Amino acid sequence: MLKVPGEVDQILVAKTYEAGQEHVFDFWEELSEAERAGLLDQLRSVDFQLLGRLAKSIDIEPPPPGAAQGIPTEPVSGDRRRELEARGWEALRQGKVACVVVAGGQGTRLGWDHPKGTFEVSPVQNKSLFQLFAEQVAATSRRAGAPLPWYVLTSQQNRAETEAYFERHERFGLPAEQVTFLVQREVPTVDARGKLLMTGKGELAMNPDGHGGTLRALREARAIQDLLARGVETLFYFQVDNPLCRIADPAFIGAHLEAGAEASTKVVRKVDPSEKIGLVAERGGRAAVIEYSELSRAEQERRDESGQLVFRAGNTAIHAWSLAFFQRLIDAGYELPYHIARKAVPQVGPDGTVETPAEPNAIKFETFIFDLLPEAETHVAFEVERAEEFEPLKNKSGPYSPETVRRAQRDRAAAWLAAAGVKTDPAVTYEVSPLTALDAAELAERLPELDLTPRDGALAL
Ligand code: UD1
Repeated sequence: MLKVPGEVDQILVAKTYEAGQEHVFDFWEELSEAERAGLLDQLRSVDFQLLGRLAKSIDIEPPPPGAAQGIPTEPVSGDRRRELEARGWEALRQGKVACVVVAGGQGTRLGWDHPKGTFEVSPVQNKSLFQLFAEQVAATSRRAGAPLPWYVLTSQQNRAETEAYFERHERFGLPAEQVTFLVQREVPTVDARGKLLMTGKGELAMNPDGHGGTLRALREARAIQDLLARGVETLFYFQVDNPLCRIADPAFIGAHLEAGAEASTKVVRKVDPSEKIGLVAERGGRAAVIEYSELSRAEQERRDESGQLVFRAGNTAIHAWSLAFFQRLIDAGYELPYHIARKAVPQVGPDGTVETPAEPNAIKFETFIFDLLPEAETHVAFEVERAEEFEPLKNKSGPYSPETVRRAQRDRAAAWLAAAGVKTDPAVTYEVSPLTALDAAELAERLPELDLTPRDGALAL
């Protein structure tokens, strides 16, 4: 066995051998002191017991999930919506709501080498996703008359850059105590035989533990207890990629509270059977998210007597969670299951050179927050208009790209203006800051104080 100075480090080396992972020391002789220390540090963060369990799970086909049923939903409008909104505003006013954005993902598909939230995406003013969210948090707090606490889930990889970005911009005006950064943990990436994958001679490949890591990160930061002690009951959850997301939407919060739900999900109607969107469905009387890939083509295309897709409740990944529900799961020792994703990642070869293969060489283990849905006693699937609330930034080009996301913001702003009686021009790019209006009704109210003259084909309000 490799000999290292210090008893603590020697035990760590022994544990690594015992786990059958001693290949990580193959290049030890070539490493500098600092690189050796770095590798030992990484190994210290590995939960070898968990790794052993995960490695065993690689070749085991999970049992086929029971049959799922599509759920019929309808958007809520008119008086009913206003009633729900009033209920949601009441909770916000009483400081009973907090929000969390999950921003720890690697954003590989977008090809942006920085935290995705720093991507500048608003159509006229080029505000970043984080700025748009910060402005919404500020505007919602102002309107509620109570600060809306905001948690930002980061990963080990993007934490420092994310925090520095918020610092540099003085949190876009939000007080420091309103914004809390969480860090999700990393799990080792392995090869097909469950061996730790090396991205360099002295470096393990690691990946963030998936958005399900929110639960652990909140727990480790003692945030759930802390929020419950402050009287916060509901956590509004959203993804960093969707600038149309209405943060802490009072109508949604209202529906969640009225139903006494432990979990709720916003859904948008899927109309194109080939759209790659997760689906909210029911399995054994419980809510569940199923990925489009889990449904056969025939199921994806099946229609009901009204001609609509049977599986049409598209998952926006926007949730409301009861914090008491989270606490109940934590007290019961609940652990989210890990899913396997096969990816191509840079790997060091026996000759010490690093290459990224064309075919997947790596297995990433990730947890998904929506695996909590079946644990909820009551769940509300709340349908909203796609054009109002959902256009996530995922890809460099094509669907869900900067182009579609900018257009969706522009079109929504134009629709709000038109609803307020303004004659809009298809050639003008519109943008409405959350600080000006959070919804069409607020924009209509504020119209008299706004200058509506476009300049250079653009109007930013
Ligand atoms: C996800 C959902 C899908 C839904 C769609 C809506 C999954 C598996 N699927 O798809 O059902 O229809 O969003 O847009 O989630 N993240 C972390 N830490 C991680 C991994 C991800 O914070 O370790 C965050 C990302 O920053 C992002 C969000 O989770 O905000 C979603 O991740 P992504 O991988 O882009 O989800 P999709 O596969 O696009």
